[in-house]
Amino acid sequence: MKILVTGGAGYIGSTTAKALEAAGHTPVILDSLLTGPQAFVRDRIFYEGDIGDRSLIRRVVDEHPDIDATIHMAARIVVPESVEKPYDYYKDNVAKSLELFDELNAVGKPRVLFSSSASLYATKENFEVVESDPLAPQSPYARTKGMMEQILIDMAAATDLRAIILRYFNPIGSDPDLESGIYAKEPSHVLGQLVMAARGQKDSFTITGTDLPTRDGTGIRDYVHVWDLAKAHVRAVERFDAVLEQVGAPSVVINVGTGSGVTVRELVAAFEGVFGRDVPISEAPPRPGDAVGAFANVDRSAELLDWHTELSLEDAIASALAWGEKRQEILGYE
Ligand SMILES: NC(=O)c1ccc[n+]([C@@H]2O[C@H](COP(=O)([O-])OP(=O)(O)OC[C@H]3O[C@@H](n4cnc5c(N)ncnc54)[C@H](O)[C@@H]3O)[C@@H](O)[C@H]2O)c1
Repeated sequence: MKILVTGGAGYIGSTTAKALEAAGHTPVILDSLLTGPQAFVRDRIFYEGDIGDRSLIRRVVDEHPDIDATIHMAARIVVPESVEKPYDYYKDNVAKSLELFDELNAVGKPRVLFSSSASLYATKENFEVVESDPLAPQSPYARTKGMMEQILIDMAAATDLRAIILRYFNPIGSDPDLESGIYAKEPSHVLGQLVMAARGQKDSFTITGTDLPTRDGTGIRDYVHVWDLAKAHVRAVERFDAVLEQVGAPSVVINVGTGSGVTVRELVAAFEGVFGRDVPISEAPPRPGDAVGAFANVDRSAELLDWHTELSLEDAIASALAWGEKRQEILGYE
């Protein structure tokens, strides 16, 4: 199959492109390089441009009429930045995606696999969320994801567009060959911060939020190895029509996680176990837009995608550490 991957120069997009190739498929990358590094594109078919550029979408489809589906990952993704710059987030994530979906439908490429987020869920007492649970996005970033889900559901109901919406939990780690990973100079993700503290690139790892209603007061997340996550996309594009037939609807939402919740303190302990040394820790209040967290109920991904995670938290931590050692070689900066 040939798959258009928007945001394919990004962290998850480049890993998914690799997983598609490993399964015998051909990714076509569309990315503006707003944040994703050119190095992650490697030698793949690549269009540098914006998802809101309809003429570019038409050109890509003209030149690749055999595209079977689109994985739409391109987005602005930094939660605190979305609090400061809501216009940029609503414009780039919502308004431009709307143009992309309409153009894909117009050119006869109706299958869309969308990267959504577990940050949409309202806090639940036992933290295990199913797809039908109430949503209460806490940041402009998360709200853009909720709006795009709604747009896809409404467009799929009214047009030929078809949508599988994957709600990712918390991707960590690298691909097995360490070709891509977290690339931000100062990563905002918890594991990127831990790796920096462990490698002495910052004084300490800051636990943001220690008074939350979890078992140890710190945020709870479902850390999914990015290579497992990438493989969930391969499953979803391969089974796209069958999944929607099975649910009897033009769109569906599917959680993609491990099914286990891990608190920040538990993550730090697991990290120190893999790393073999303690990491200096400091504590601070939650950042703007931070949520208490959730972990995935994974019944639906098992049933519809026949997919579950294969790699452990320790595998993912080891992979992130190994990427921390390798990334300068690929990115040209520490
Ligand atoms: N990383 C996470 O923890 C996480 C969790 C849940 C969901 N997601 C979603 O997964 C997707 C991929 O996330 P990621 O971590 O790989 O992020 P990323 O920032 O590494 O990748 C996003 C890519 O999109 C590109 N891009 C941004 N705006 C664009 C535009 N208008 N046109 C074309 N390209 C554009 C960027 O250059 C970048 O390469 C995003 O949609 C994100 O919201 C990520």
